[in-house]
Amino acid sequence: MILVTGGAGFIGSNFVLDWVAETSEPVVNLDALTYAGNLRNLAALQGDARHVFVHGDICDRPLLDSLLSRYRPRAIVHFAAESHVDRSIHGPAAFVRTNVEGSFTLLEAARAHWSALPADEQGAFRFHHVSTDEVYGSLGPGDAAFTEDHPYQPNSPYSASKAASDHLVRAWHHTYGLPVLTTNCSNNYGPWHFPEKLIPLMIVNALAGKPLPVYGDGQNVRDWLYVKDHAAGIRAVLAAGRPGETYNIGGWNEKTNLEIVHTVCDLLDELRPDPAGPYRRLVTFVKDRPGHDRRYAIDARKIERELGWRPAETFETGIRKTVQWYLDHPDWVAEVQSGAYRQWLATQYAPGAGA
Ligand code: NAD
Ligand code: DAU
Repeated sequence: MILVTGGAGFIGSNFVLDWVAETSEPVVNLDALTYAGNLRNLAALQGDARHVFVHGDICDRPLLDSLLSRYRPRAIVHFAAESHVDRSIHGPAAFVRTNVEGSFTLLEAARAHWSALPADEQGAFRFHHVSTDEVYGSLGPGDAAFTEDHPYQPNSPYSASKAASDHLVRAWHHTYGLPVLTTNCSNNYGPWHFPEKLIPLMIVNALAGKPLPVYGDGQNVRDWLYVKDHAAGIRAVLAAGRPGETYNIGGWNEKTNLEIVHTVCDLLDELRPDPAGPYRRLVTFVKDRPGHDRRYAIDARKIERELGWRPAETFETGIRKTVQWYLDHPDWVAEVQSGAYRQWLATQYAPGAGA
């Protein structure tokens, strides 16, 4: 079996569902169920013996040791993290704790487990670290996309904490020989995306007739990947990636934020027209995010060349599925918009507080 951390979050839950559907291998899913973790994402697996959920923290070494000795996973896929850049600006401590200390604790537990395995199991073991393109910093308009050799230049507390964890993973391979894999992926979107992030926030705000807050001039560029393509990319790397290597995963879909928001508005006009008028009327430019990276772009040729992975969805097909998913799941949306969520919106988008 495999051990997944953070499998109740956005990407982790999509990965767990994909894994169970595509392979016959059971998953132990360790998640602390922070505001971002939600077992409703995994409701389809209720009663399915291939999924074992464990409520716990990656900083808890005794818990990690007992899970590893009890289940003897052949691989760990590490998603658990604090993931929202704006939250890292308001409160970086949680990011250092989970992303740096938590990854360190998990690496140490994995190393102890792996060192005690028989030689054949040691050779087959993998520690797969799920990371981000944000560790590479920001690109200018004409710069080449990030390759795996791009220097690390993290600019936010979030990306600095992820960069730190990437370095720990690298060092645990070079120093101790732990068979690690790292993937650095661009912006994901799709089902079960928590509505503090750009795309789901725009969908839920538009449906509620609320302003659509675009930071700065809306010309920042991100590369977008449908989350199920990310899950397939991780499966490909876990199956055949070379230990010690890093692989960039991206969608070949660079878009400005304003293009993204306009696309969401236009799809909603088609699928759920508002009698009050086109959704674009709600677009509101707000104060910029401090230290806002201007452009990310991923060169994903290595994973295609070595492992044959390419995204299956275009942005047009993926964003249509995503908007339709939110229209079809009003209960999920209502449930995640709890008191804590409303408090976050009040902190982040209060007049003058700004991003
Ligand atoms: P998310 O915030 O939706 O989910 C994170 C999950 O980790 C939650 O279920 C949360 O409960 C859990 N968690 C947090 N702290 C924990 C702890 N101390 N112990 C155990 N579990 C804990 O995040 P996401 O968007 O699904 O991202 C998953 C991973 O992918 C992260 O490592 C992130 O850096 C990386 N990533 C995300 C994106 C993206 O676009 N969302 C892109 C590239 C890489
Ligand atoms: O690039 C990969 C990263 O993508 C992941 O590592 C992160 O975990 C993930 O959260 C995401 O980070 P971003 O900061 O790019 O995502 P976010 O959805 O927060 O913002 C996307 C862009 O939209 C960014 O340029 C900021 C802008 N934005 C965001 C919000 C929430 C707005 O203009 N308005 C908003 O209200």
